[in-house]
Amino acid sequence: MTATENNLSCPCKKKSCPCHGDCKACRRHHAESKHKRPVYCDKKISFRKFRKGDEFAVSDVIVTTLAVSNSSDYSPEFIAENIKSHSPQVVASRADESHFYIALDGKKIIGCGGITGYWGSKTESYLVSVFILPEYQGRAVGRRIIEALEADEYFLRAWRTEVGSSLTAVGFYLKMGYKYKNGLTSPDSSGVVRLEKINEEKASVGVQRQGCRQ
Ligand SMILES: CC(C)(COP(=O)(O)OP(=O)(O)OC[C@H]1O[C@@H](n2cnc3c(N)ncnc32)[C@H](O)[C@@H]1OP(=O)(O)O)[C@@H](O)C(=O)NCCC(=O)NCCS
Repeated sequence: MTATENNLSCPCKKKSCPCHGDCKACRRHHAESKHKRPVYCDKKISFRKFRKGDEFAVSDVIVTTLAVSNSSDYSPEFIAENIKSHSPQVVASRADESHFYIALDGKKIIGCGGITGYWGSKTESYLVSVFILPEYQGRAVGRRIIEALEADEYFLRAWRTEVGSSLTAVGFYLKMGYKYKNGLTSPDSSGVVRLEKINEEKASVGVQRQGCRQ
């Protein structure tokens, strides 16, 4: 297979580049280059905090992603329930209760994620609503959302941060350095797998587990 056959819709104008159409090779080439310029398709990708009014587009991102990306791991009833619980109103109140970030391609919202205290704790935190539109997955947008969340004060103050991961996203969180909570690899009664990232330095000074979020 030639490089161009890898991704025939590669939008980069440099068709003569040996990496053209080969996303992994292209990203590696840019990461290793002296100037660290972003790859062509990431040039317009940006990140910012949620603003009032974003809830409609964010709800659309979550609903589309649930329907397309999560539907092979869950029953239609489970997906329908989750779609119902991500209305613009619910998204707005979730964003209000957390530090919520969005990813954009130009002006279009393409992904989101938030971090909040674990049941109100100031020493443990919890990731919420990490979703990337299907057509933008695999382009390091999820990784950059996690980087934004991990640079947030709610992550930095916590000795551990938990996530209730969909079955679909477990491999992603493992890649991001999260570990199975209490070694449990199967989903709990709400259908999610519990993973956590521990700040060893903070944990070693004796901050105790608080809260009881399941
Ligand atoms: C899970 C999700 C957020 C990942 O976002 P993404 O932008 O596709 O991920 P990235 O491209 O940033 O991937 C970062 C790394 O994780 C890896 N990765 C991503 N998803 C993975 C998966 N499901 N299994 C294993 N590895 C995965 C990538 O290969 C990449 O590794 P690399 O850096 O070595 O190349 C996205 O696929 C998604 O929205 N999924 C559906 C919704 C969902 O389940 N969200 C989680 C709710 S808890």
